[in-house]
Amino acid sequence: MSTFQPLSISGDEKMTSEYIITVVTGNRKGAGTDASVSLIIKGSNGETNPLSMDKWFHNDFEAGQKDDYYITAKDVGELLMITLKNDGGGYRSDWFVDRVTIKTKNVTYVFPCNRWVESEVTFFEGKAKLPTDEQHPELKSRREAELKERRALYEWGKDEVYEDLPGYVKASGVKNLPKDVQFTEEAAYDLHRARKNALINLGLVHLLNFFDQWDDFDDYCKAFTGFVGEVPLAAKYWKEDRFFGYQFLNGCNPDSIMRCTKLPPHFPVTQELVGNLLDSGDSLKKAMADGRIYMVDYKILEDIPHYGQNRPDLERRYMCASLGLFYVKGNGDLVPIAVQFHQEPHHENPIWTPNDSEMDWTCAKLWLRNSDTQFHQMVTHLLRTHLFMEPIAVASYRQLPTIHPVWKLLAPHIRGVLAINTLGRDVLIAEGGVADNTLTVGGGGHVTLMKKFYKSSSTWPSYILPQVLKDRGVDDPEKLPNFHYREDSLKLWAAIADFVKEILSGYYHSDGEVQKDYELQNWVKDLHDNGYPNKPGHTNHGVPPSFTSCVQLYEFLTSIIFTCACQHAAVNFSQMDVYGFPPNSPALMRQPPPTKKGVVGQADLMKCLATKHQSSLTIATVYDLTRIFKDEKFIGDYPEELFIEEPAKAAIEVFQRKLKGISAEIKARNAKLRVPYPYLLPERIPNSIAI
Ligand SMILES: [Fe+2]
Repeated sequence: MSTFQPLSISGDEKMTSEYIITVVTGNRKGAGTDASVSLIIKGSNGETNPLSMDKWFHNDFEAGQKDDYYITAKDVGELLMITLKNDGGGYRSDWFVDRVTIKTKNVTYVFPCNRWVESEVTFFEGKAKLPTDEQHPELKSRREAELKERRALYEWGKDEVYEDLPGYVKASGVKNLPKDVQFTEEAAYDLHRARKNALINLGLVHLLNFFDQWDDFDDYCKAFTGFVGEVPLAAKYWKEDRFFGYQFLNGCNPDSIMRCTKLPPHFPVTQELVGNLLDSGDSLKKAMADGRIYMVDYKILEDIPHYGQNRPDLERRYMCASLGLFYVKGNGDLVPIAVQFHQEPHHENPIWTPNDSEMDWTCAKLWLRNSDTQFHQMVTHLLRTHLFMEPIAVASYRQLPTIHPVWKLLAPHIRGVLAINTLGRDVLIAEGGVADNTLTVGGGGHVTLMKKFYKSSSTWPSYILPQVLKDRGVDDPEKLPNFHYREDSLKLWAAIADFVKEILSGYYHSDGEVQKDYELQNWVKDLHDNGYPNKPGHTNHGVPPSFTSCVQLYEFLTSIIFTCACQHAAVNFSQMDVYGFPPNSPALMRQPPPTKKGVVGQADLMKCLATKHQSSLTIATVYDLTRIFKDEKFIGDYPEELFIEEPAKAAIEVFQRKLKGISAEIKARNAKLRVPYPYLLPERIPNSIAI
């Protein structure tokens, strides 16, 4: 510990106090500073002069370091805030501060920081407060000042290209985002290295130079030559109907399957066509009535442009707005029983079944998976997690001061999304990006698809998981067993809902307090007006213009945390297992679908599926996207310790215990499975969308 005096003592600082100050610098690359820093302590009776923090013969403020100081300065009464100043000197001046604690008159005050100090930042003392809580006028005015600063930093983007999609942050590139929301140096390094490793470790580099097709399905395994990991299990099971069905429940897109109580007129599957595929004594009609028939319908893909469709200079790719019918067998397996490529029945649009030749049926399943891939990548993953959650981050920065309990709750869950989405707009969505290189729907169709879905179907109620599963008729484990995504996600939803209620009920004691919390109301209004505006031609996106009750608020927050953490983990980190073996789920097709049965051979399918070059790009991309950053924080892990009150800390501990229990249950279940479902193990669920 070192002692030092304030830079100056003015007349009114003669009434002094002793302060024992501990500063924790963040344990991350580049967190330390060589600049000169100073501290101002602000309290109920004024503030100290700037206090220089430096120890002789000691290198202060290195990454992960704790520095203690003993200071005598003006007695400012009860501590409210601190201001840290950085003079910008030294080789690396920016400083990432984790937290500051100050002990004075036997009281310890904690100031959670968790952000960069580039020049000057004021931090609140750690107790969360609503704007309507009784508080010192200085705190009130600082709340307003902080929001004013942040509204200037975090503006809504206005680019025409992204019109008809959820609101997003204005930024001309990821490096132009405020430093607090840029990738950490660790994450930036991981991103760069993952791409390189993907190509080198997977032995894919040489394949990039081969633009010809593979010889047969098993050849795709050669893409893994030299790979340090394993070829995905899909390579072994992909032709099995039970594995095919399993993936619509437990693959990377668990969102499309729904109960079929009545066949739509444009999908005229008959008893004659599939009766022999059902368990003995069963019928299509009976199975439908019993809740054992399910379907997927990719009607949304109709009229979406395909890559190269309107550009003769580009490779022409294909997809279908296909439909698939599934049956739950007596042993619980969900198996496909019919596939139709296009929406309108026609003699050149036959219904394909397992009664067809093996090659025909394999071909039919490839086309259905190809439809699912387009939907999963652009809607389930990119639109419904990444893009739909971005307004939450923007509005939170703009409307919730760091002293607000809802900010403290959400901050760990909105970390990363602005950086990855800004990067995504440059390298994934933009022309010549990943979508163009790997998907049928690339070349502009990918954006058209997202806009079509967003305008027609993206509503906030579609994020309320328990209700959505009910609405889709997939909520009954008796009727639809082995839906591990459903079981795991419902447990997580319940744990998050309890946690949100437990932690926030310490701050909101009545619906009236929610109604009067003008910062919270401004937040949801910003979301309603700018995050998901109900523009002409759009469905009502269902974001309320205001909150009227605790229940409504808690459900809204539960869906945010669930989506940023659990849903994104389920639909993102499963991608290598699904797409790592391209025939399991083809991302692009290079030939049109057949119009009659009995004409397709293996050579035709190889001509249709991705070339060596394209499959290596796909594998490298999903390898990239399923990396977990070294400095990732997982659900329930809040090392930022933004909440300092005991009841809030207790709520976090209860949450953590519940998550441990869920993890044990998932592990026990997975141990008995041929193909485990690990994506919702809490220890594998990052807190936020960062990749
Ligand atoms: Fe993602």
